[in-house]
Amino acid sequence: MPAEQLKLLFTEEEIRGQVAKLAQEINRDYQGQYPLLLGILKGSFVFMADLIRLLEVPVEIDFVTLASYGSARVTSGKIRVVKGLRSAVKGRDVLVIEDIVDTGLTVGYFMDYLRRKKPSSLKLCALFDKPSRREVPVDIDYRGFILPDKFAVGYGLDFNERFRHLPELYVIED
Ligand code: IMP
Repeated sequence: MPAEQLKLLFTEEEIRGQVAKLAQEINRDYQGQYPLLLGILKGSFVFMADLIRLLEVPVEIDFVTLASYGSARVTSGKIRVVKGLRSAVKGRDVLVIEDIVDTGLTVGYFMDYLRRKKPSSLKLCALFDKPSRREVPVDIDYRGFILPDKFAVGYGLDFNERFRHLPELYVIED
């Protein structure tokens, strides 16, 4: 197995703290509601699992898989929904849960796709954000960490399907 150089960026404890802060904001804003949390696979599954256990509002959970028509590292901007929604979106308070917003193309596309389904409200929660790489504007309603322009792994994020299991967040050093 090639040994990439990983540099620790955020510890397990730092991530836990930020997830708790996001959960608090969601608990405050969705009081009395029954939001539909939509996770984008695969990266968001770790974040989703930790986040929902800190929520005090009842939630419904669903996941979608999106795929880019481009190569793995270069997003083409044309994205298709590979595994679609099972839940009805119309009239629901929908909160999209994303691991990382990079160029913004993936989540930007998905938010437009959902908007056409007429949810009652639509918001985005992203644990990690790389604003320096943005190609399309994306409003992040609940944001965890801002990252430098480096490839990040751990806490659900992979590099060629590796490193998702790491409890901390690392960046790959060139
Ligand atoms: P986009 O460029 O915002 O469309 O990001 C598309 C997807 O690329 C994200 O949902 C992640 O799955 C993946 N991605 C972007 N940056 C990173 C990174 O630093 N590490 C791991 N995956 C990433």
